[in-house]
Amino acid sequence: MNNLTIARAIHILSIVIWIGGVAFVTAVLIPTIRRFAHEKQQLSIFHVIENRFAFIARFAVVLAGLSGLYMVYALNTWDRFTQIQYFWMHAMVLLWLMFAFALFIIEPFLFKNHGRIVKDHGSIMNLRKTAIVHWIIFILSLATIFVSVLGAHGFLY
Ligand code: HEM
Repeated sequence: MNNLTIARAIHILSIVIWIGGVAFVTAVLIPTIRRFAHEKQQLSIFHVIENRFAFIARFAVVLAGLSGLYMVYALNTWDRFTQIQYFWMHAMVLLWLMFAFALFIIEPFLFKNHGRIVKDHGSIMNLRKTAIVHWIIFILSLATIFVSVLGAHGFLY
């Protein structure tokens, strides 16, 4: 029981750091850069700042995944993944997979040469699409947290 409670505390702590960062980037950083930086420089400035958070986010995502898996194991609730009323468990895992894919595969491999790509093609790299994508993942994250707390405390069945 003690281990389970500690795992739950670690789970929430890592989610606070991770989704808190997403909230800041979405609601503060992106709108500020869009307002004050030149269109061609927006994406580069954004990546320089976001890169510094990416390391922390990666660590938090790993911790959230490990503590979550430990809780599934300790509660022995693998069968929840076969029951529709536990959709909030699926939501957590799906969201986790999305972020893990973005932080460990898309960012390091696809955006590595971003500066060169911008220069080579001379294209305008403003943050309009980045803003839309971030609002979508931020809202999905909030919804997941909301239903997960309801689910974990027996409100949904
Ligand atoms: C591999 C990914 C994940 C796994 C395996 C996992 C697993 C779990 C488990 C087993 C619980 C406890 C459920 C219970 O007490 O009945 C839990 C609780 C919770 N999880 Fe996750 N989770 C994962 C990712 C996430 C993500 C991405 C979020 C949100 C962004 C999230 C948010 C929460 C919240 C808010 C709770 C409720 C804590 C409480 O009120 O007691 N989890 N998770």
